[in-house]
Amino acid sequence: MRLVRPSIEWQMEHESYVEEWGTDRMTPSSFHLGGYKSYEAYLASLHKRERGEGKWLPSTNYMLVDDQDVVVALVDIRHALNRHLLNVGGHIGYSTRPSKRGKGYATIVLAEALKKCKALQIDRVLVTCNLSNTASARVIEKNGGVEAEHYVESDGNVVRRFWIDNGE
Ligand SMILES: CC(C)(COP(=O)(O)OP(=O)(O)OC[C@H]1O[C@@H](n2cnc3c(N)ncnc32)[C@H](O)[C@@H]1OP(=O)(O)O)[C@@H](O)C(=O)NCCC(=O)NCCS
Repeated sequence: MRLVRPSIEWQMEHESYVEEWGTDRMTPSSFHLGGYKSYEAYLASLHKRERGEGKWLPSTNYMLVDDQDVVVALVDIRHALNRHLLNVGGHIGYSTRPSKRGKGYATIVLAEALKKCKALQIDRVLVTCNLSNTASARVIEKNGGVEAEHYVESDGNVVRRFWIDNGE
């Protein structure tokens, strides 16, 4: 099990993950492939986003790959918080490939992302999930999340917010 950065080497795996995901917009959204002329164009846009160009704060994307080189989970680490991330998005977004859920991969990918946050000197990590997302709340709690005040979006959606002490 290892983390890899999105690259041309992982194009087919990324595309098959998206296909399995179906028509919904991808989570994390930075892995969404719709609207690009080619995978190279997606990578170029991702790299701009990762550098914090335009409306983005710097971020880093990883794929969790198993021993058979299957991408089983995705994670996006935001290096800082703006108002929207503080209320809704948090530092880390993740998902597990639909056919690979319930095997502990989200718990692993969040734990690995926390190590990356530590290297980035992010000592208090905010991770959020929707009120209805009990599986994600469990993943956050298993990684040491302590619940803070929730946030209610303008459409009434309730976002649960957890801080993880990543300092020691
Ligand atoms: C949420 C998600 C990431 C969980 O991924 P996963 O790989 O299946 O999670 P894990 O196997 O690591 O752990 C899930 C934990 O939640 C529990 N769980 C799973 N489904 C659950 C449910 N419906 N209700 C309560 N707990 C649930 C599991 O039992 C496990 O806890 P346990 O180890 O104590 O038994 C995955 O369902 C997903 O990708 N969902 C869509 C995207 C998303 O919601 N991302 C998170 C955004 S905040």
